[in-house]
Amino acid sequence: MASLRIGIITSSDSCAAGLKTDGSGPALQSLVEERGWTVAGYRLCADDRATLTAAIIELADVESCDVVFTTGGTGFSPRDVAPEATMDACDRLAPGIAEHIRAQSAKVTSRAMLSRGAAGLRDRTIVINVPGSVKAAREAFGFVADELEHAVEMAAGGGHD
Ligand code: MTE
Repeated sequence: MASLRIGIITSSDSCAAGLKTDGSGPALQSLVEERGWTVAGYRLCADDRATLTAAIIELADVESCDVVFTTGGTGFSPRDVAPEATMDACDRLAPGIAEHIRAQSAKVTSRAMLSRGAAGLRDRTIVINVPGSVKAAREAFGFVADELEHAVEMAAGGGHD
């Protein structure tokens, strides 16, 4: 399969305001490039539902990303709205991806239960929420990365192997 086009969106009020440096977005970028995939777009957004939804739609529809990762904004704090923005942007659910990330994450930390991360499809673009710490983002990416090429083929209408 050809190199995947990946979009990365960091959801963080403090990073968007310049008060903190984004760690998880660049960490995901490195992991994507290590796989030989292309980072087709990176957006640093405040924890704002409409802003995040617009960023997901842009990376899917304009940048033609195969997969869009959001990082951060999956927790319980009042400003954590990445799952809601993802559902606004998507037309179909992909609960197995979120379930798998949470199940694997629970083997690392019981705090995995505190991530509300979701996943879905906007047309043929797969959207995946991962948590916002560098550690959690790297772990979550590692739990799904091996299946992404097949998932993208399926989303594009391909059959099973
Ligand atoms: N998942 C993995 N794999 N590793 C982690 O360290 N941290 C948890 C959870 N999921 C964690 C994880 C914690 S402490 C929180 S609060 C939630 O993700 C939500 O993180 P977020 O608000 O940055 O999205």
